Amino acid sequence: MAKSVGIILAGGTGARVGLSIPKQLIKIAGKTVMEHTIAIFQDAEAIDEIFVLMHPDHLDVAQQISASYPKVTKVIAGGQTRNETTRIALDALSDSPPDTKLMTHDAVRPLLSTRIINDCVKALDEYDAVDVAIASADTIIEVNDEKVITDIPPRHRMRRGQTPQAFRLATLVDAYKKAWADPNFVATDDCTVILRYRPDKPIYVVEGSDHNVKITEPIDIFIADKLFQIGSSAAPAHTKPSEYSHILKGKVLVVLGASYGIGADIADLAASFGADVHGFSRSGTGTHVENADHVEAALQEAYDKSGRIDYIVVTAGILNRGRLADVPMDDIVNGIRVNYVAPVLAARIGLKYLQETKGQLLFFTSSSYTRGRADYSVYSSSKAAVVNLTQALADEWSELGVRVNCINPERTGTPMRSKAFGAEPEGSLLSSKAVALTSIDVLVSDLTGHVVDVRRLDGAGGMSRTELEAIRIQEALAAAEAGEPIDPDLRDV
Ligand code: CTP
Repeated sequence: MAKSVGIILAGGTGARVGLSIPKQLIKIAGKTVMEHTIAIFQDAEAIDEIFVLMHPDHLDVAQQISASYPKVTKVIAGGQTRNETTRIALDALSDSPPDTKLMTHDAVRPLLSTRIINDCVKALDEYDAVDVAIASADTIIEVNDEKVITDIPPRHRMRRGQTPQAFRLATLVDAYKKAWADPNFVATDDCTVILRYRPDKPIYVVEGSDHNVKITEPIDIFIADKLFQIGSSAAPAHTKPSEYSHILKGKVLVVLGASYGIGADIADLAASFGADVHGFSRSGTGTHVENADHVEAALQEAYDKSGRIDYIVVTAGILNRGRLADVPMDDIVNGIRVNYVAPVLAARIGLKYLQETKGQLLFFTSSSYTRGRADYSVYSSSKAAVVNLTQALADEWSELGVRVNCINPERTGTPMRSKAFGAEPEGSLLSSKAVALTSIDVLVSDLTGHVVDVRRLDGAGGMSRTELEAIRIQEALAAAEAGEPIDPDLRDV
């Protein structure tokens, strides 16, 4: 099968943003813009290799960033114009088979989805050239140099072009050869080159996304930042059942809020997989997570007993419903302390341990964090604060190699929830075990600064998500019990 190469175009200077560094090196949500972009291509299964084309003055930074992404096989200097940068990438592909699939993408579009990448790669099975575009909400008008309208094309046929743009190598090489020989050649993207010089090749259009914004003007930095803030990620790929024990053996996990619900399930599952687990809670060990001395003592105790701490999970939470004016003052203060102050304390006190192991801190938020709702003022605002805290710490700790994430579970069947809402219809809630297993997937992943959504899927193959998760948990536990050290598939490799 033809290999697929992602070409990250980062050869520009970002004159319109007007900073002293190129816009692809601005940091948003803990990482440079171009690193977000590279990470998306790294994670896309459809992509085999990545080339990074960087402005020649900043090649060293691009090399440093790329070192963490194994799919990046070339970091090369870009050209004077975007098209010249693409042409340099084509030269670098001169030894590749003509049916190679390649995808040119603006480094400054860091919110691309893997769905778009997959759709482009798939479309190349039928077409030699593919563009990505979205419908235009605005009417597009054509003007002349005197700013007078010359045409207003029908809006329903107008699209706004984005990237990536995808091609079969031989077709783009041929179009570029002709373009370069044409003294009147002008273009700002690669599909124009096909349209002008290989008009025999239809260019298929894949549906883009409103989120796939291009950082062009200063306001786009603000928009991208907001999109990162509210954006949450899908849960990472499931760990293979037989790998949990392999990964967690010898690892030390501290759960703050381990007496029931998700915290208890994380502690139980991790222990079954061979992790060394220390659970603390108000009812079990008299640990008040909102009390700095208690948190200090709990972490010290775990460290003294086990000699290291790899993961700290904070699941303690309080849900007080009601009009702010009606909720007793003590409950309000307690809610803020348990939901928000406790994560702050766990972070501040836990850092020194996690720094030693390059470990991870895991928080929990609620789907109400994106927008406050009546009767949940303290709960949802403190959960919003936890998301903001996660992002801030991911940024602060990125150089220390300590990861921090936040789980955003859909409605989950926990004692806290049934106390607040009473009995709810069977099957309408996520099981807390399923949330626990996904939390472990996050702990063992490389993610940092993510708000990870855990959702219930509607019946797959006649089974509910809860049933599917239950099977996954059973398989993982059975593998752990059988003492399988590593997945047989991996052993064959
Ligand atoms: N690009 C490139 N090589 C160039 C010029 C641009 O690889 N010689 C890349 C940019 O780095 C960017 C993408 O093409 O990722 C889109 O271009 P644009 O937004 O125009 O970027 P800049 O040229 O950097 O911006 P400006 O026009 O404001 O200077």
